[in-house]
Amino acid sequence: MDVIAVVGRKGGIGKSTIAGNLAAELVAMGKSVLLLDADPQHSLVAWASLGDGVLARIVRKIEDGEPDYILSAVKRAKGVDIVVIDTPPGAPETSRAAMAVADLALLPCGPSRLDLLALKDALALALKVRGERKSKRPRVRFVPSKVVPNTVLGRMLTPELESMGKKVLGGITQRVGVAEAVDRGLTVGEFAQGSAGHLEFQELARAVMRILEKN
Ligand SMILES: Nc1ncnc2c1ncn2[C@@H]1O[C@H](COP(=O)(O)OP(=O)(O)OP(=O)(O)O)[C@@H](O)[C@H]1O
Ligand SMILES: [Mg+2]
Repeated sequence: MDVIAVVGRKGGIGKSTIAGNLAAELVAMGKSVLLLDADPQHSLVAWASLGDGVLARIVRKIEDGEPDYILSAVKRAKGVDIVVIDTPPGAPETSRAAMAVADLALLPCGPSRLDLLALKDALALALKVRGERKSKRPRVRFVPSKVVPNTVLGRMLTPELESMGKKVLGGITQRVGVAEAVDRGLTVGEFAQGSAGHLEFQELARAVMRILEKN
């Protein structure tokens, strides 16, 4: 079983969007997936409850993002191929607990200076957890998120992230369809199969699988 934590100190950078759509694409690749909603806002639970799609089948709520519950939920997830954990913003103890059990930490970052500054904190926390675990896990990857094409900030994001010394995965563009899918309780792949947005999440899932298979 592999565990992926989606982590970031800043709110609204696309953590839950990435966790939900990534989990759905992993299911589409034939994996059994448990999606833990460890954010007390429970965005994934709310998203799943708006429809009857894949999220409704794989999301499980972690009450109050309680760090101890994350560990026990992961331990209980025997027989599942991949656990994806969505974490809250500004709650380092929950993020730390998720990264303490994760093989891979995905750190989304939006195209703004403030997002990049907050990302440094998330990276520092990830590296701290790795030090505590005396391990190369979690592997850390940045995910450009809510990228606005044809803007200077959009173009600069990936090079800026690369300069921070960790590998950068393919970005997720800001698209109306991503938010519209949420409105229907669906993932982008369910709402608009084969769309450009769907292809980005498919590519993210493939990249994630390549990392997990190398581990
Ligand atoms: N690629 C995208 N295109 C369009 N809208 C997006 C995209 N990614 C996220 N959003 C929208 O941006 C808002 C914040 O996204 P999301 O909830 O995924 O962020 P978050 O980091 O999980 O936030 P929080 O820190 O509050 O948990 C939501 O309204 C979501 O629908
Ligand atoms: Mg969220």
